[in-house]
Amino acid sequence: MSSPVPLSHRALVLESTTAGFHLQTVPTPLPTPGSAVLQILQAGIISYHREIYDGTRHYAFPQPLVGGSSAIARVAALGPDAVALTVGQLVFVDCVVRGRDDPSELFLTAISEGARAGSKKLFRDVWRDGVWAEYARMPLENCVPLNEARLCKELGYGVKELMYLCHLLVPFGGLRDIKVEPGETVVVSPATGGYGGAAVKVAVALGARVIAMGRDEGKLAALKEHVLKGAPGASIETVRITGDEKADTAALMAFGTVDAVLDLSPPEAGKSTHLKSAVAALRRGGRVSMMGFVDVPAASWKLVGDDITLKGKLMYEREDMFQFVKMLERGLYPKGKDLVDAKTFALEDWKEAMDVAAEYNGIGKLVSFAP
Ligand SMILES: NC(=O)c1ccc[n+]([C@@H]2O[C@H](COP(=O)([O-])OP(=O)(O)OC[C@H]3O[C@@H](n4cnc5c(N)ncnc54)[C@H](OP(=O)(O)O)[C@@H]3O)[C@@H](O)[C@H]2O)c1
Repeated sequence: MSSPVPLSHRALVLESTTAGFHLQTVPTPLPTPGSAVLQILQAGIISYHREIYDGTRHYAFPQPLVGGSSAIARVAALGPDAVALTVGQLVFVDCVVRGRDDPSELFLTAISEGARAGSKKLFRDVWRDGVWAEYARMPLENCVPLNEARLCKELGYGVKELMYLCHLLVPFGGLRDIKVEPGETVVVSPATGGYGGAAVKVAVALGARVIAMGRDEGKLAALKEHVLKGAPGASIETVRITGDEKADTAALMAFGTVDAVLDLSPPEAGKSTHLKSAVAALRRGGRVSMMGFVDVPAASWKLVGDDITLKGKLMYEREDMFQFVKMLERGLYPKGKDLVDAKTFALEDWKEAMDVAAEYNGIGKLVSFAP
């Protein structure tokens, strides 16, 4: 299962947002107290990684660094204070690093240093390098054990399919944050993107009815077909975003009571009216998880008079990951290859990989490195 940790390994090093990446041979980190050294099997690439690393998105992070976000890995070596993880174990590597003496100081590995002095210090001085490498060192608490026998042998997941956790966990965090219950109706907007599609899968697994919003009828039809293939009994409806705020609200309300909304809009959808339409369709006491970037609906009679909760959410909490893995191990998600269709790339093909990731998005799609 595990082989000796080599003294050096290959890693994709971003010199700067202007100089781009170089595949370099670098020393393999040693397992210090509080850390695990991981052999990276799959490393996720998000649709806007290219925009982050070429500076278009203006995310702040120290440079140079090894790129990345989340990963599926095998534990290669452990710090002396590890008490539960074992060498050779399969783990999900969480990209959210939190301060141990103050978990509110958090940053996203190799992506964003966060807003506070503590998270910036942790990123810059301690956990600078990400997982786009053959080996990486991460905090022990960022390694979430996966029951390999159950997931891979019994349920048929490969490591490529397990990498899709990086997409599924984000909407799981938002849906749990607004306490979505089985049987409730949730609007996912927009649902045709990578995280939006993952949100639909998660909401269905939670037992909710989903109304998926999107601009493109064809994509919405394909999304519905995909969901029903993996979860034949799923309750899923679709509504096209027309830009007519009132008409879109009426289309949502035609399906009856709407309990909650999960929004995962990219910045380019900033002026779209779909979130306003969805909020207007909510029942009294409805909840909204705002995980994307569209205008916040202004205070109105609807918000105040109907006791609407609007909550922002960054990623997910640590306990969400463990709850999610329990659901996966109980078989509550589509099995193995029905969950995701993944394209993988070698580290040296980093440019093509990020270009493909920018285009190959939507429900059940994922692009990753197989270092
Ligand atoms: N809060 C968090 O923790 C968190 C974590 C991860 C990501 N996010 C946010 O989620 C966003 C989506 O990421 P992704 O990887 O899913 O992106 P993606 O795969 O590129 O999907 C983008 C989605 O937005 C839709 N869209 C684009 N422009 C639009 C417009 N003008 N009006 C209405 N809809 C529009 C697309 O619709 P079409 O299919 O019609 O093109 C698609 O459904 C990110 O940009 C990020 O800001 C938040």
